[in-house]
Amino acid sequence: GGVAWEARADLVVVGNGVAGLTAARSAVERGLRVLVVSKGGPTDTATQYAQGGIAVVGDPRIDSVDSHTGDTCVAGAGLCDEVAVRSIVSAGREALAALTALGAVFDVGADGGVSRTREGGHSTRRIVHAGGDATGAEVQRALNAVGMPVLFGAAAARVTTDRRGVTGLIVVSDRGLGVIHAPAVALATGGLGQLYSCSTNPEGSSGDGIALALEAGATVADLEFVQFHPTVLFAPGAVGRRPLISEAVRGEGARLVDAEGRSVTEGVHPKGDLAPRDVVSRAIARRLRETGADHVFLDARHLSGFATRFPTVTASCLAAGIDPADQLIPVAPAAHYSCGGVVTDVHGRTEISGLYAVGEVARTGLHGANRLASNSLLEGLVVGERVGIAAAERSGLFVEADDLLLPFRQRAPRERVQELMSAHASVVRDGDGIDSAATELERSEVVAAGDGRTLEDTALTVVASALVLAASARRESRGCHGRADYPETSDEFRRSIPVRIGRDGEL
Ligand code: SIN
Repeated sequence: GGVAWEARADLVVVGNGVAGLTAARSAVERGLRVLVVSKGGPTDTATQYAQGGIAVVGDPRIDSVDSHTGDTCVAGAGLCDEVAVRSIVSAGREALAALTALGAVFDVGADGGVSRTREGGHSTRRIVHAGGDATGAEVQRALNAVGMPVLFGAAAARVTTDRRGVTGLIVVSDRGLGVIHAPAVALATGGLGQLYSCSTNPEGSSGDGIALALEAGATVADLEFVQFHPTVLFAPGAVGRRPLISEAVRGEGARLVDAEGRSVTEGVHPKGDLAPRDVVSRAIARRLRETGADHVFLDARHLSGFATRFPTVTASCLAAGIDPADQLIPVAPAAHYSCGGVVTDVHGRTEISGLYAVGEVARTGLHGANRLASNSLLEGLVVGERVGIAAAERSGLFVEADDLLLPFRQRAPRERVQELMSAHASVVRDGDGIDSAATELERSEVVAAGDGRTLEDTALTVVASALVLAASARRESRGCHGRADYPETSDEFRRSIPVRIGRDGEL
């Protein structure tokens, strides 16, 4: 259809979570005209739901950048880019200070200093938190209060480019099709939880930024590493967004047990219930297979002050009729975080001039095959700041967009994508299942991208296809990618598998 409205900006940011709003703020501080587009509202972000906190090195007597870097690389199962890890981790303190300066308030301990908790894979207490287990909500509140120009209810349909790089963004909003002319676009669209029937992600996590980047010619990698959070509140038959039971609950001493009260992780890993997430999720999957059960339990009954330390978790449990003070909490793994994404450097730059990706949508090399808990808000803050700087360096290179054709994309019914991915691309996969999912996705219908829902469904189909392609090629088990037919980790695969759309239009 015709273009109903046009706008102009130095930088367009797609997404309004921690990564997007930090990039926007950083760019505005450097004098850029910034427009943020958000298909939802001010709190429809994954940031809003983040519980545990922000991993930031504190007291030098017990912690160091070396230690945080080491823990991140161990969790990442050989696929982290150590230089990228060190670069991001060492900027944590400054990022936390900047956030505090904006008005974010973090929990303090009895000594008056910022209190830090522990989560899986961390060698020490390193996780800064707010409101007990409502860290993300506090971060979102503080960033929203800065007052960035955000166009809500607007879905990104296409990043336009010419030979020299980005020329703008096509958007679908209730005012019709819009074009924002801009030399720089930052994708901060979050993850892809909607690929699965159950996830901790908000409804809008449909991999949009990954699809936009692929169609703009960028490379994605590590998509096969979808992190399943081990402890998501279980209810029979429940689908959609499910309440998270923060890993900090285990950090404070809760135990993971089966219906008989037996530990799930004993003998599996030296860190026990606080092993990296992929290890804990696989241990649960194995116990479920052995016992035929569909969930295990967290025992937090012995923890004093639970309701005060974990108000969000307590409210979710009480809403489900469970009182953690004297009942076991039923939990099972659910899709939580995309470790891979659009390939960028630690400044959020993709290989396309003027195209940035930041936060969960990006693959900087920080997470490797399995993200360390609470490294994601950190990444959004650190790389978000740098995207603002990088965009400012490029500003002035303005070019007009002339390519206004909407893309034609494949679309499979969302529920079917979720069934396929949940059955064949979850905690444990195998080649036959992955290939059958790939075959069915290939047969999906081709449609012109129209309204917001169609855009999401087509994005999901593109992202699912890229994910199963990588999962099929990775004939080993590593981090979040567990293959029943290739249970060993293989040196041959100690590298990322890049995926892009070729000249023929195929992945
Ligand atoms: C949690 O609180 O367990 C989530 C932390 C994270 O995903 O980093």
